Amino acid sequence: MIQPKNFVATVLSWQAAHGRHQLPWQHPATPYRVLVSEIMLQQTQVATVIPYFERWMARFPTLTRLAEASEDEVMSLWQGLGYYSRARNLRKAAKYLVQENHGEFPRELSDIQSIPGVGRYTAGAIKSFAYDEYGPIVDGNVRRLFCRLFGVEGVPNTSKVDKQLWALAERYTPTENNRRFAQGLLDLGATLCTARNPNCQQCPFAEHCVALRTDMVDQLPTPKPKKVIPQRIGHFLWIQKQTDIYLEKRPAHGIWASLWSLPELTEAPFNATLKGQFQHTFSHYKLDAKIWTVNEPPTHELREATAEQWVSLDSLSDIGLPAPIRKYIEHQKA
Ligand code: ADE
Repeated sequence: MIQPKNFVATVLSWQAAHGRHQLPWQHPATPYRVLVSEIMLQQTQVATVIPYFERWMARFPTLTRLAEASEDEVMSLWQGLGYYSRARNLRKAAKYLVQENHGEFPRELSDIQSIPGVGRYTAGAIKSFAYDEYGPIVDGNVRRLFCRLFGVEGVPNTSKVDKQLWALAERYTPTENNRRFAQGLLDLGATLCTARNPNCQQCPFAEHCVALRTDMVDQLPTPKPKKVIPQRIGHFLWIQKQTDIYLEKRPAHGIWASLWSLPELTEAPFNATLKGQFQHTFSHYKLDAKIWTVNEPPTHELREATAEQWVSLDSLSDIGLPAPIRKYIEHQKA
């Protein structure tokens, strides 16, 4: 097994030559900017995140400004990124730090981890990128790299494998140059040790890689068993008066929480014509959306919407709508 010293030196020299040095959150890498970028990057590619990150920082340059923002404002900047609980958690995190810590970022790993929405990975990333201090990180990129390099078998995200991966991360993380080291680890996973067609020829760890030596690169990390995801039908209402459309703000829980949307019913409405449909796959189920034209807003007793409004079809960009709903509405205008 490669020695930690050798591993760290190799990551650092590879990073200097081939790593990414011009990502917007690296300049400057303040704790707040690192937090926001890491939360955005959790389920989303770097190229998609960059413009969202820039807009976010222009609108909420500091923790205090974010803590003061309304939920609607925060959600509207997030629209299209998906996994909206991330946006709500960021706002919660800002409020928490302003209220509990005078708007200051903590420096201890355990204190960073007690921020709402901040887990072990994000805390390690903040420690490494913002403070340039010891902070082990295991995300999808690191997991892939470690599983292959050290020949770790078994399905990741199970406690046994996770424990091994975090133990490796703790042991192989240096106590200096942490910013460059962490960036190098992520960049290696994102650009060479990729899920498909990894570039083992260019890999600085080729001679140490257990997976390469045993011809297991394509088998590691062990794939998750395929889950069959259930399908659910959702009934949505299209209520239009001239150029205005009727929208409701969804409740604070469940899918698309706190976003504006076409009103949703649990059953198809009476006396309505089917206007159209679309499908959208979430991580845990497939939504089969039916859109019904009706003349009047529905009565309220049976639904959980928290607010409603008529919106001009031309000013939809100002409010937070789920991407598939926006796409559907935009499509009707064309
Ligand atoms: N993915 C998560 N964090 C990242 C970072 N700082 N740079 C590139 N990719 C990342």
